[in-house]
Amino acid sequence: MTPNAATFDQWIRGPFRDINSELEALYFAQPNRANVAGVGDALKQVLLAEGREHIAALLAEGNTDEGFDANFDLLGNVGFYMAACRRHELTEPSRETRSPLTEASALAMQLGASLGTVPRFASAHLETHNRAVNGVFKSFTDLEDEITFIAYNTRGAFGYIRAAEALLHLLPLGISHPVAADLLRQAKASLEDVHRYNGELFEALDVERFFYCVRPYYKPHRVGLREYRGANAGDFAGINVIDLLLGLCRADDPYYSQILVDKFLFMRPDDQLVLRDCMRRRSLLDAFLDEQGSSESPWYRHNLQLFLEVCEAHGRTALQHHEQLVEKFIVKPADEGDLVEDKGLTASGPPLPVLLKALKTLCDLRAGAERDDIPSRYRELATLRSLLAGGHD
Ligand code: HEM
Repeated sequence: MTPNAATFDQWIRGPFRDINSELEALYFAQPNRANVAGVGDALKQVLLAEGREHIAALLAEGNTDEGFDANFDLLGNVGFYMAACRRHELTEPSRETRSPLTEASALAMQLGASLGTVPRFASAHLETHNRAVNGVFKSFTDLEDEITFIAYNTRGAFGYIRAAEALLHLLPLGISHPVAADLLRQAKASLEDVHRYNGELFEALDVERFFYCVRPYYKPHRVGLREYRGANAGDFAGINVIDLLLGLCRADDPYYSQILVDKFLFMRPDDQLVLRDCMRRRSLLDAFLDEQGSSESPWYRHNLQLFLEVCEAHGRTALQHHEQLVEKFIVKPADEGDLVEDKGLTASGPPLPVLLKALKTLCDLRAGAERDDIPSRYRELATLRSLLAGGHD
């Protein structure tokens, strides 16, 4: 890290966080907590000017060859600054045709394009690759609810990643391998961890704080000419690796592959490679269907039972995300604040009802729900269940 990059990092971890925290306190004290206009204008200008000064120095030194990790981290810091400017409405994509943050856009595009990612902060910057200094990781504010949200998103992501790794290890072994059972058990336990973490987050997080003071940093914003959607907790390969390897979602389903195509550049390049590879693999569900001739064999019955339990654990966690987290922390407060049609409500931009429909589809695919308007695998899952029910243990 160059001295300029280190100074910028200290600014992001210090004064930047303090200014955002002060602004959040001002917004939150208003009768209309969603209002940003005309509040804390002097503070906003300090944030804008100080950030620009750091970024102009980095741009002038040509910060291009510091290695992947340093450059990815710097992209995160520029991205934090741009996202905060959007949150405080110093920029607003619908009123501009290009980002007014000229220097920040230039540095973000140089970094993002050379790294092979979008030129904005992504969830890896907040979660799986957010280095703590003296026990404190980076965040926009010092609000306890933001720290809780990021920490639990990180735990959830790692839980999914552990489950994905177990399934990836299973691929070369095949479903009849004696160690396949160990790996399926590990995948199930890791998904149960995610479920437990999500349950804790559901209890710990304050709805109003999350809705009014945390979520707004994840809005879409422009970098250069183009608008980029916000980061969400799902921008890592693990969850899709599980979808694909279990066989609950399919890479040849245009609905699902569109999600993957849109998501690739929001992930780190190493993660992109893992997901690309999974898109061409045969799923475990298909492997169990292909080998149903062995349905009387002890290995088949044992491993199929475990496989179905992994599918159920994945579906349960997806339902929990949709019916508990999204419902309590987005849908209800949006309803109560009369903000359902608000364009800036979601990380990806579409109005909430449209986003909810898309999230529900994903959730139903993962849960193998009985739906014929989407390629849910409920029929195949029922066939596999009937093989177990019909045989002898
Ligand atoms: C996406 C809400 C926590 C995993 C989303 C989206 C919303 C949302 C609204 C859609 C983003 C958009 O396109 O605008 C929430 C809320 C949470 C929460 C309110 C807690 C307060 C988590 C956690 C995880 C997670 C802890 C686990 C790692 C995902 C995934 C996606 C996603 C994987 C991408 C869509 C998908 O593949 O299902 N979330 N989320 N979320 N979230 Fe969460």
